[in-house]
Amino acid sequence: MLSSEHTTEISNVLVIGSGGAGLRAAIEVKMAGLDVHVLGKRAKTDVHTVLAAGGINAALGNVDPEDSWKQHFCDTYLEGYGIGDPRQIEIMAKESPTLVKEIDEWGARFSKLKNGKLDQRFFGAHTYRRTCYSGDFTGLSILNTLLKKAKSLNIQIQDSQYVTDLLISEGICFGAMSFNTKSCERTVHLSDAVILCTGGHTRIWKKSSSRKNENNGDGYYLSLKAGCELTDMEMVQFHPTGILLPEEIAGTLVTEAVRGEGGLLINGKGERFMANYDKERMELSTRDRVAMANYTEIIQGRGTNNGGVYLDISHKDKDFILTKVPNVYRLFLDTQMIDISKEPMEVAPTAHYSMGGIAVDPKEHSTAIRGLYAAGEVAGGLHGANRLGGNSLAEILVFGKHAGKSATKYSKRLHSQIRSNKSIQLAHENINSHIKSGSNLLRPLQYQLGNIMWDYCGVVKDHDLLKTGLHKIHDLKKAAKDIDVRIDHQNCEDLILAFDLEASIVSAEATMISALKREESRGAHQRSDYSKTKDSQNCNYRIILNKDTLGLEIYTNSLITLDEELKRIVSKARRIKDLKGKLIE
Ligand code: FUM
Repeated sequence: MLSSEHTTEISNVLVIGSGGAGLRAAIEVKMAGLDVHVLGKRAKTDVHTVLAAGGINAALGNVDPEDSWKQHFCDTYLEGYGIGDPRQIEIMAKESPTLVKEIDEWGARFSKLKNGKLDQRFFGAHTYRRTCYSGDFTGLSILNTLLKKAKSLNIQIQDSQYVTDLLISEGICFGAMSFNTKSCERTVHLSDAVILCTGGHTRIWKKSSSRKNENNGDGYYLSLKAGCELTDMEMVQFHPTGILLPEEIAGTLVTEAVRGEGGLLINGKGERFMANYDKERMELSTRDRVAMANYTEIIQGRGTNNGGVYLDISHKDKDFILTKVPNVYRLFLDTQMIDISKEPMEVAPTAHYSMGGIAVDPKEHSTAIRGLYAAGEVAGGLHGANRLGGNSLAEILVFGKHAGKSATKYSKRLHSQIRSNKSIQLAHENINSHIKSGSNLLRPLQYQLGNIMWDYCGVVKDHDLLKTGLHKIHDLKKAAKDIDVRIDHQNCEDLILAFDLEASIVSAEATMISALKREESRGAHQRSDYSKTKDSQNCNYRIILNKDTLGLEIYTNSLITLDEELKRIVSKARRIKDLKGKLIE
C-alpha cells in the first residue's frame, strides 16, 4: 500500500508521547491558552508511567524536617557521580515539592500522615525520607490524575499513533508524520512546536522492566534523524530487583519500595550480603551498587539455584505488606503462587532506565532543533551516572511543565509558520520504503537484539565484549535491510515492528559506541577492564553523539561546572557525607 495520502491536523503544540511528561507538558500549554494535541502509541491509560511504582521525590520535610532542596540536590548530584547536569538537578530539587503538592491537590491518592501531610518513605541513597507514594502504584495514580486534568481542559489525546518522522525544514521543526497502528492511515500533524516525551530504550535488553513494544528507542532515533545530539547513552540503569521467573516476564520490576519498607537481600547461602558492598546503607544503597552486589553474588556462584538472589520481606506483617506493596504481593501470587508474607522472592538485575538521552537546555528543555523540545526519560543530563529511585516521576512533572512552558512561549512569539511539502513527501517515502517483501522476519531479529544487548552490553562490560557486540549489531543492521513487512487495512503490526527495530538498532549502536568510549567505571557504567572511576574534575565528561546521514559521530565535552553556590553546597556535602551522610548548613 504505497501512498502519499494523509489527513492533516493542526495545533499550536504537538506532544509526542502520552505518559506523565507528555501530559504535564500538554496541560501547561493548554492552561496558557494554546491548542495542544497529544499522540500516544499505546492506550492512554496504559502508558509506561504506570510501571513507575514506588514513589516520587520532593524535599517536603514532612517526616524528616531536616530535609531541604539542597540536600536533595547533593544526593542526586553526588550519587550521579558528578556528571548529572547541576542546573537541571537544582531545578528539580527546588520545584518538585510544589509540583508534588499540586498533583496531590488535583487528586492523586498519595498516602498521608495523621496530620494530613504527605507521607514520605525511604528510597535508596536518599539522606532523608523524601519519597511520596501511593502504595506501589504511584505512577498509575499520577497518570490517572493527569488524565483527569487533561480531560477537564479538553485536551485532545490520540491513542494508536506511531510517529515515523519529525517534519523539519531549514532546521526548524514544524510537526510530525504518524500512522494509525490499527488502520495504517497516515496523518500529518502541523504545529509550531513539538515536544518529544517518548521514553527510553531499555526494552532492547532481553531482561527489562519495560513491556513488549515500549521503550524501543524511537525518540532517540527520531531526534537523531532530525539533527539532535544524544548524551551519555552508555548510562543505562539496571534495577537490582527484577522478577526472575517465569521466563516470559523475567525482568518485570519488583519495586525498590520493598527495600524501602524493610526488605532484605539474601544470597543462596542464606547470608545478608549487602554489608560486603555498602555497610552503612545496606539494601538502601544506590541502585548501581545494589545491582552490582546482586550481579556479583550471582556471577560468583552465591546465587539461588535459579540464578537470582532472595528479596525477603516475610518478617513484616501481612497487612503491612498489603498496604505498602500490594502490587508486588499480587504479582508473586499470580505468577508463582508465592505468598511473600511467608516466603522470599527471587530477583535479579534488569534493564530499567535510560539515563542518557537527547541533549537539552537545562531549563527550557529545548533541543538543537528550533521548535523541538524533549522531556522525561527521552531527555538526558539529569541523572548522570546513577538515577536515584523516585527522581524519574519528579522529573516528568518538573520538566514536562518546563517543556510545555517553553514551547508555549516559542509558539506565541512566532511571526510566521514554516511548512514544507518536500519534508512531508520525504516522510511518506520513508514509510513507503519500509513496506516490502524480504527474507527476514521482524520478531526473530528483535529477539536477537535483546540477546546481544544482554550478553555484550550488560551490567558489566569490557572492550572485547563491546567490540563483538557492535559487530553483531552491524550484522543485524544488514539483516534488517531485508525484512518482510506486510500491511493491510487491519494490520500494521509489521510496520510498527520495522520502525521499532530500526530505532532499537540505532539506539543499541549509540549505547555501545558510548560505552566503548567511556574508558572508566562510573555508576551504572561498569567496565571490568577499567574498573576505576577517573577522579580528576576534567574527567567528569559527557559523551555526545550526533549523526551525519546516520553514521554516528562521537565527541566528548567536559561538564559545565557548578556555580559558586552549588559548589559550596556540594563541597560541604562531600566532606560531611564521609562522616554522616548529611549536609549540615
Ligand atoms: O523501584 C521502583 O519503584 C522504581 C522507581 C523508580 O525507578 O523511580
